[in-house]
Amino acid sequence: MPQSRPILGIETSCDETAAAVLAPDGRILAEVVHSQLADHARFGGVVPEVAAREHLARLPGLVARVMHEAGIGHAELCAVAATAGPGLIGGLIVGSSFGKGLALAHGLPFIGVNHLEAHALTVTLTNPETRFPYLLLLLSGGHCQCVAVEGVGQYRRLGSTLDDAVGEAFDKSAKLMGLPWPGGPHLERLAAQGDPRAVALPRPLLGRPGCDFSFSGLKTAVAQALAKGAAAADVAASFQAAVAHVLADRARHALGMMQGATAVVVAGGVAANQAVRTALAGATALPLIAPPMRLCTDNAVMVAWAGLQHLRAGRADALDHAPRPRWPLG
Ligand code: KG4
Ligand code: ZN
Repeated sequence: MPQSRPILGIETSCDETAAAVLAPDGRILAEVVHSQLADHARFGGVVPEVAAREHLARLPGLVARVMHEAGIGHAELCAVAATAGPGLIGGLIVGSSFGKGLALAHGLPFIGVNHLEAHALTVTLTNPETRFPYLLLLLSGGHCQCVAVEGVGQYRRLGSTLDDAVGEAFDKSAKLMGLPWPGGPHLERLAAQGDPRAVALPRPLLGRPGCDFSFSGLKTAVAQALAKGAAAADVAASFQAAVAHVLADRARHALGMMQGATAVVVAGGVAANQAVRTALAGATALPLIAPPMRLCTDNAVMVAWAGLQHLRAGRADALDHAPRPRWPLG
């Protein structure tokens, strides 16, 4: 049975180059994430061309490293799974071409994984007691959506952002406060010294039907408050409170659009934010589950795990499977 052997996962959709080897029961045999933050910081954001070149330079060495750490040869794998979308196309081409090359050379199945699905299923690895259906809140720099996860391969997108992703809103607001990129964690630290009631900021879409998000108006309000001379720490605290308030409201609405949800699961870098977690935990009586942060942010363990689920369902992709910069779930 091929699934009695480990699987290799590859992630290159944004600015993390990652590789992981997973045993068929989900045990992590080896994993590595190389963050490209330092390469992009001076540009104040991810530069797609720089990201693609960096993936190309790093990926072969990282894959060799996880294979060495797992103590196996390529021929002992059951499959190669690589993120094939959504994301920056240059990076997707690097990762999936590399994965296909390995698969072809060693006679292995190739699986092109949807990055959002990988985030969605991570909790079934880290918290195996979690039952379908659950509500996934994907809160990162690139993605911001509510997804009903009803089973492997069964996803319903309930709502998403109409403009900026929530992490992007943190980063843009932080930039206005003069904080380094990516600003989310810096803004959280600054907010700890401010008063969340000091500055009246809007709560975009609060109480509206559905569970879409909007953050661009909030960012504009932040700019205006700073221009009027409000203290940056107070603006940071007020911004964070507004985001947390809106996220809690949207989560409640999303749950109202599902039947029998067993839990609220958060993923993405913004899940690290304590104010956001507290607000989400208070929004519902359901358990709030956050996988360990290193598996909440981009990584290859989740890609390998999603690949295993596909393999179990008897699904693999042909070698002409094309990477997709846009690839909505559901
Ligand atoms: O999931 P992630 O590592 O990468 C992708 O965007 O795919 O998320 C990064 C985002 C950035 O926007 C970053 O500022 C934000 O998550 N972030 C935070 C915190 N830590 C990371 N935002 C608010 N509070 C934090 N503590
Ligand atoms: Zn991601």
